[in-house]
Amino acid sequence: MGKRKKIRATRAESRATINVLGIETSCDETAAAVVADGRDILSSVVASQSELHAQYGGVVPEIASRAHIENIYPVISQALEKAKITKDQIDAIAVANQPGLTVALIVGVTAAKTLAFAWNIPLIAINHLHAHMQSALLEHGSIEMPAVALIVSGGHTSLYDYHSPLEPELLGSTIDDAAGEAFDKVAMILGLPYPGGPSIENAAKGGNSDAVNFPRSLLEKDSLDFSFSGIKTAVLYHCQGQDMKGQNRIASMSKKQIADIAASFQKAVVDVLIEKTKRAVKKTAAKTVLLGGGVAANSLLRESLKDKCDELHCKLLIAEKRYCTDNAVMVASLAYHKYKAGLFADLSLEPLASA
Ligand code: KG4
Ligand code: ZN
Repeated sequence: MGKRKKIRATRAESRATINVLGIETSCDETAAAVVADGRDILSSVVASQSELHAQYGGVVPEIASRAHIENIYPVISQALEKAKITKDQIDAIAVANQPGLTVALIVGVTAAKTLAFAWNIPLIAINHLHAHMQSALLEHGSIEMPAVALIVSGGHTSLYDYHSPLEPELLGSTIDDAAGEAFDKVAMILGLPYPGGPSIENAAKGGNSDAVNFPRSLLEKDSLDFSFSGIKTAVLYHCQGQDMKGQNRIASMSKKQIADIAASFQKAVVDVLIEKTKRAVKKTAAKTVLLGGGVAANSLLRESLKDKCDELHCKLLIAEKRYCTDNAVMVASLAYHKYKAGLFADLSLEPLASA
């Protein structure tokens, strides 16, 4: 795109409030939101594609991309309508441009660049994982430092030393599957619907979490990395036998047997997440723990991490469940900090698959 007229960024200088329109299309949710001053949520619209992907047991990139194209403008229009503001009152457009599925990210990035150009306002590039951290802060003005953040999503499982909204430093991440991915794959093994996290959580309600002793992979003594591919294989072997000859065993299992496996798996994953977060808290002497990402909607994780943080004399901050899974509120909220710091992107912004 060609050179732009001087961006009307200064327009906000005459007004106290900064309104950001956030856009999120990194995976299978098309989302837009308007947030004032980083915390005042004026609107949040999320069009989920779960039903489209359910029959495949996971996200199909091509289908996701096409659905984003169909949904993006209706979702943005609704976000503006619900916020009861006009485009002239928007001070910046923020978009998650990494990490995620490139064919999905590109839809949000293209929409954001187009609007930033047409409305002549700043464009702000947001890291989706950093935005998940921000969701934990929506209800809190300031936090006690040092802080660590545990981000658990379908594509990532990472621990950060959280210095500030703009400078989280990676301490460790998964060396194979992400926690959410393990939930999704185990749900598929158990014949439970996609997305697997909520299905496993539901199924686990009637189960005994001590029924099966699934492995807790903690890696080396001080490691802050994660590994969840072993537990997924352990569930597969438990269900189908080491020789994988019991393909039909699930069909003959009782609801209680499935519930026991779901509860035991969920407990094993949560145990690992808690242990690693404890290590990170000890390493950084953290006073605050932030929890974000889709798996942060899991009640057992929320409750167990709260107990652990109490034991460690840390404060735990978690977003409401609806802001744990992908949404654009977290994008617009983090963008406020970048706006204040003058960190704007130009119209050559590209989507990036990895962070
Ligand atoms: O953050 P998110 O919405 O999308 C990504 O950035 O990946 O996370 C989606 C992941 C999925 O793997 C989903 O199964 C998992 O979050 N998830 C849950 C729960 N709700 C969503 N996992 C465990 N328990 C839940 N209640
Ligand atoms: Zn996410």
